Amino acid sequence: MNLPRNEDYSKPEYWEKRYISEEEYEWLGGFQCYKSILQKYLSKHQQSDSILQLGCGNSSFSTDLRNEGWENITNIDISLTGLQKLRRRERDSNYVLMDMSIMSFKDKAFDIVVEKCTLDSLLVTAESPWDLDSKQHKLVGRVLKEIKRILNPGGTFISITFSQPHFRVPLLLAEGLGWSVQVEKIEGVGLHSFVFIIQDGDPAPARTKYLHSSSLVIQHNSDWESSDEEKFLENLNLDSDQEEDSSSS
Ligand SMILES: C[S@@+](CC[C@H](N)C(=O)[O-])C[C@H]1O[C@@H](n2cnc3c(N)ncnc32)[C@H](O)[C@@H]1O
Repeated sequence: MNLPRNEDYSKPEYWEKRYISEEEYEWLGGFQCYKSILQKYLSKHQQSDSILQLGCGNSSFSTDLRNEGWENITNIDISLTGLQKLRRRERDSNYVLMDMSIMSFKDKAFDIVVEKCTLDSLLVTAESPWDLDSKQHKLVGRVLKEIKRILNPGGTFISITFSQPHFRVPLLLAEGLGWSVQVEKIEGVGLHSFVFIIQDGDPAPARTKYLHSSSLVIQHNSDWESSDEEKFLENLNLDSDQEEDSSSS
């Protein structure tokens, strides 16, 4: 298998080309890996609440959400081919070609926003995960402001990522967002992922808990593993030494 160069992951044309031949792929594992966490943190919502998925790709995440009873789902992506494939597979949700950094939705349009590995794809080309001033981190900052704008106060933003809390939490606690952050860690085979649960609230506890402590809830899952994802991860520079360095400083 020809692995793409890492930097391709951040380019729209990479995804467009990939989705021509690829029918379905689940970055960071499928819905089942996250089902119990979603049930726990979305229990305050009604199943008729509006959900926006950012960067749906050709994943079945939205189909699985619908099968769990969530009725009102909109998916966006920058790849038309990925959206067309999903639309053919599951007609009942909305699929919209849109860049998540400049969304045309109205303020407070959604009750829930979810993304799986989509913000990660913007950060792949950043030279250092610590440099919050890089153009890639600034782009993620713009996306987060857009999410804040389109999310109802009282809404929930679920972000599923490779990125460890000491890299991602500072972005989520940026001034003006006014978010509280909780983190769950999912152990996979070889790789692990993190689920960030973000709501309006006091950022201070997250700053203390996730930037100065390595204690996290660990859940186990074994149904995802991919050399392609390891390659992606390599470029994000998220090895366990860095986690230990950060938590001991
Ligand atoms: C790593 S894939 C994740 C796909 C899917 N969420 C999953 O979990 O399998 C990243 C996706 O984000 C999409 N994407 C990248 N930049 C985007 C942007 N600015 N706006 C919307 N979607 C974007 C890509 O087209 C791709 O489908």
